[in-house]
Amino acid sequence: MELQAVHPHPPEHLNNPYLPHLARIVRIHRMVPDNYLFQLRFADDAVLQKWDHRPGQFVELSIIGTGEAPISISSSPTRKGILELCVRRVGRVTSALYRLPTNSMVGIRGPYGNGFPVEEMAGNDLLIIAGGLGMAPLRSLLWYALDNREKFGTVTLMYGARSPAEMLFREELLSLAEVEDFNCLLTVDRDPTGTWKQNVGLLPSLFKKMTFDPNKTYAAVVGPPIVYKFVLAELLKLNFHKDRILMSLERRMKCGVGKCGHCSVGYKYTCIHGPVFTYWDAINLPEIV
Ligand SMILES: Cc1cc2nc3c(=O)[nH]c(=O)nc-3n(C[C@H](O)[C@H](O)[C@H](O)COP(=O)(O)OP(=O)(O)OC[C@H]3O[C@@H](n4cnc5c(N)ncnc54)[C@H](O)[C@@H]3O)c2cc1C
Ligand code: FES
Repeated sequence: MELQAVHPHPPEHLNNPYLPHLARIVRIHRMVPDNYLFQLRFADDAVLQKWDHRPGQFVELSIIGTGEAPISISSSPTRKGILELCVRRVGRVTSALYRLPTNSMVGIRGPYGNGFPVEEMAGNDLLIIAGGLGMAPLRSLLWYALDNREKFGTVTLMYGARSPAEMLFREELLSLAEVEDFNCLLTVDRDPTGTWKQNVGLLPSLFKKMTFDPNKTYAAVVGPPIVYKFVLAELLKLNFHKDRILMSLERRMKCGVGKCGHCSVGYKYTCIHGPVFTYWDAINLPEIV
């Protein structure tokens, strides 16, 4: 006798991309002042089971009674059950989130956006380059690559923060620095404490530490505009093809699903055609960076 599926006809709400799902804040990790990691668990078991995302995708986080904000997913799809969002407190929605205690409910719509083309990247070397809050979306890609280690060649992370105290996921990354078969290069612009044992210097200075084969490496870059300026120059100097440089770009968004037009750049909507673009796309959409 054939076993029946639990949901032979999945409830409509599971297929509705516009509908927020309730999620409980199960843990708040105060990584850095004004940069907390929120661990969420969907209240509805059916949503929890069905949820899947791609590294580089984002969700619309809603705080009931306040509003919504797009936030990248920091956890990897290889780690099921908990959705992690690394949120910087800047304005209305994020400040309201920071006022919520553990066990509060928030709304989650998504996942949205294209994410990194991980199937196409498989079989290649991977160079992940993060500046500041850029580590938030790239952490998902990092853990995806580490959990699927056999699918990639050399995996390298270059991450730069202003100081050790401002480095996101610092303890986790320091423990990864010990892992074999993974190059974890961490740097800080300055070390006021004098106790930082990793690199001190601006992010592009890490390029001196490694060699890359530009024909078999994908570079994924996320950071503030200054990071793009100097990191892209280094990658081009190393002869990386523009299609092998992937960048996640943030625009002001509202709906997240290609309906409101808030995030349009030329003929593209960054919420559905992005937020991940190749450098080739980016130079053909001049306003985008
Ligand atoms: C795809 C994507 C992924 C993102 N991922 C993350 C993430 O992982 N973590 C994270 O912390 N953030 C992320 N962001 C940024 C986040 O969505 C914004 O910071 C968001 O605005 C926060 O909402 P808020 O209501 O708290 O802030 P808001 O109240 O919207 O204010 C945010 C900032 O914008 C300014 N501002 C507000 N309105 C305007 C306006 N009309 N014109 C100009 N400036 C204005 C404010 O002064 C403030 O400095 C992401 C954004 C995108 C598009
Ligand atoms: S955010 Fe509405 S179209 Fe992109």
